[in-house]
Amino acid sequence: MLTIIALRPYIKMHFSQFDCQTLFNIFQWRRDVRHFLEDQVPNNIIKKLQQAMAYAPSVGNSRPWRVFNVSSQPIRKQVFSNFERANKQATRQYDTQQAEDYQRLKLEGILSAPVQLAVFTDTNPTAGHGLGRQTIPFALDQSTAMAVQNLNLAARAYGLGVGMVTILEPKEMETLFKVPPAWRFSFYLCIGWPKFSSDLPLLHTLDWQKNQETEWLEI
Ligand SMILES: Cc1cc2nc3c(=O)[nH]c(=O)nc-3n(C[C@H](O)[C@H](O)[C@H](O)COP(=O)(O)O)c2cc1C
Repeated sequence: MLTIIALRPYIKMHFSQFDCQTLFNIFQWRRDVRHFLEDQVPNNIIKKLQQAMAYAPSVGNSRPWRVFNVSSQPIRKQVFSNFERANKQATRQYDTQQAEDYQRLKLEGILSAPVQLAVFTDTNPTAGHGLGRQTIPFALDQSTAMAVQNLNLAARAYGLGVGMVTILEPKEMETLFKVPPAWRFSFYLCIGWPKFSSDLPLLHTLDWQKNQETEWLEI
């Protein structure tokens, strides 16, 4: 039996214009980072990143993200060799010129990021009792992505950079981390203090892919 508890009254202007502008500065200056300084990240900030993920929306309030804090060097090395194989394979889809351009890109920060997280999604969580995912099972993956984005934005607020790595063979990641059969690999996150700052994506600056307008369609 579900009971409705009393809610607090809604305050329309709870956040100031300054707060809102700060939020937009974080959106604008958040970058996918692949070049890190060696400086360590204090534990209290890592805790805040964990908390930011917990604030994310999730289908049915299922919170299906499962996160490993990867400090083991041998495991990091194995993730890096997975990346090297997957990246070599990815190069093969391009013609000669584009393959050369692709190989010049740095698409991970696994050897240098002081903090690394392997994020999986539980595709059969008991939490949420299946609410909202009967029609769209990948709502669970979407939920994990929202939690990762919360972490990204919180990291930027503290001046940290996050690099998402998906050029990894997922089955190998699931085997390496010995996860239960229902967990699927989602993201590998490299976190640390960035070497550079920019309000433009590196792939835009390097001419791999310019920013495009994403107009809303009217109907
Ligand atoms: C789901 C997802 C997966 C990504 N995987 C990679 C990756 O494997 N390697 C990489 O260098 N960047 C990866 N990126 C980062 C994008 O290339 C980057 O977000 C994009 O170029 C825009 O740059 P910005 O995040 O700095 O705005 C990924 C981004 C997303 C959203």
